Amino acid sequence: MYKIIEDVFTLKRLIRDESKLLPEYVPQSLPHREEHLRRLAEIFKIVIETRGETFQKAMLTGETGTGKTAVAKRFGQSVIDYATHKGLKLKYIHINCHKDRTLFLITRKIVQEICPDLPKRGFSPFELLAMIHDYLNSHTMHAVITLDEADFLIPRSGEDFIYDLIRLTDEKLNEPQRISIILISRKINVLYELDKSTVSALLHNTIRFEPYTSIQLRDILNARITETFYPGAVSEEAIELISDMVSAPYESGHRGDARYALGLLWKAAKIAERLNAIRVLPEHVRMARAEGTVSIEDIQNLQLHEKLILLSVAKVLRKKQTAYITMGEVEDEYMQLCALWSQDPRKHTQVYTYIQNLKNIGVINTKISGSGYRGKTTLIGLVDAPAEVVEKELIKIITNEVNKQITRGEHLDKY
Ligand SMILES: Nc1ncnc2c1ncn2[C@@H]1O[C@H](COP(=O)(O)OP(=O)(O)OP(=O)(O)O)[C@@H](O)[C@H]1O
Ligand SMILES: [Mg+2]
Repeated sequence: MYKIIEDVFTLKRLIRDESKLLPEYVPQSLPHREEHLRRLAEIFKIVIETRGETFQKAMLTGETGTGKTAVAKRFGQSVIDYATHKGLKLKYIHINCHKDRTLFLITRKIVQEICPDLPKRGFSPFELLAMIHDYLNSHTMHAVITLDEADFLIPRSGEDFIYDLIRLTDEKLNEPQRISIILISRKINVLYELDKSTVSALLHNTIRFEPYTSIQLRDILNARITETFYPGAVSEEAIELISDMVSAPYESGHRGDARYALGLLWKAAKIAERLNAIRVLPEHVRMARAEGTVSIEDIQNLQLHEKLILLSVAKVLRKKQTAYITMGEVEDEYMQLCALWSQDPRKHTQVYTYIQNLKNIGVINTKISGSGYRGKTTLIGLVDAPAEVVEKELIKIITNEVNKQITRGEHLDKY
C-alpha cells in the first residue's frame, strides 16, 4: 500500500516519449485516413506497374491539420518499401515550399536527395530539372516529389515550378517519364495559376481532406496517447473535452484540426506535470486552451535569424526569471548567439522587423516600457510555452539547421 501511495505521490512525469508529439513524427497508423491512403495508392498503381516509366500527378487539399502531410509522408515511406520489395528504384522527396521558399532551394533539395554528386552551380532550376530527369533515366529510377504547402510557391514565385516540371515531361514525350508530383495545398485555388491541362489532370486526381469530427479526433488522440503517455496518464474526460472543443462549430480557426488537438493535449500534459498532477484532467485542457498554443511547427518554419532572436528572448527570460526583457538585452544575447553559431548578425532595423514578425505569429508579445525603465524601450515577453521548453527546442532546431548549412558549404559562400 505504502508503495502505491509513494508511486503516485512521486510520479511527476506523464509523458513517456515526447518525441512522438513533435510535428515531424508520422505515426504508423493514421486513423480515419485509410481511404485517402488507398486512393493515393490507386493513383500511383500505374507508376509501379510500368516499372517507373509513367508519371502521375495528384493533389491533396483540405483545411489545416487534416492529415495531408502525414498521409503523403506515410504513403511515401510505404511506396518506397513496396517498390524496393519489387526491385524497383523509387525515391520519395517531400518538400515544404514554405520552408524552402525559392525555386533555387527546391531544385537543390531535389538534386541533394536524388543525385548529390551532380554539380549544382551555374545551372538554372530548369536545367537542373532536366539533368535530374536524365539521371533518373540512366539509372532507371523514378522520383515521387511532394510539393507541400504549395500555396506558398505558386502565387509567389512568378516562375512556375510545377509548370516547369510538367513542361519537362512534355518535352520528353517519347521517353519514360520519371518524375511524379503530389501537390499539397489548403486551398484548391492554388490551381488558378496553372495551365488548363495541368488543372484538369490534377482535379481528376484530387483527394479532399475533410476536417475531423469529434469521434475521429478522439480516435486519433487515443492512438497517440497509447504511443506517448504512461498508461492511465490522460483521463477519458480530458480526451473527450479536447475532441469536442476542437470539432465544435464555434471553433472557427482550428475546427477539425488534429494538429491543434494534439497541441492542446501536449500543452495540457505539460501543465499537469507542472502542477504535479497524476493525470491530465479537463481542467488542464481548459488551462491549455486559455493560454493558446503556438506549435513547434510554427517555430520550425521561422527563418534562421528569427529562430536565433527567439532563442535569445527565451534564454534571457529564463536567466532573469522576469516576465519581460528589453530589446537591448535581446540584441546583446543575439550577438553572442550569432558568434556561437558563426552567423552574421543582422542590423538593428532588421532585428526589429523579425521581432514584429514573431509578435505577429503570436510567439512573443511586446509592449512599450512604462515606469522603472529609463526612456522608452520595447519590452518583450513569451506568450506561450515556458522559456525553458522553447529554449531547448530551439537549440536542437538551430543546431540541426546550422549543421546542414555546414555540410552544404553554405556558411562559406552566402548567396
Ligand atoms: N489521422 C491521423 N492520425 C494520427 N495523427 C494525425 C492524423 N491526421 C493528422 N494527424 C497529426 O496531426 C498533425 C497535423 O497533421 P498534418 O501535418 O498531416 O496536417 P496538414 O493537413 O498537412 O495541415 P497543414 O495544412 O496545416 O499543413 C500531425 O502531427 C499529424 O501527425
Ligand atoms: Mg501540412
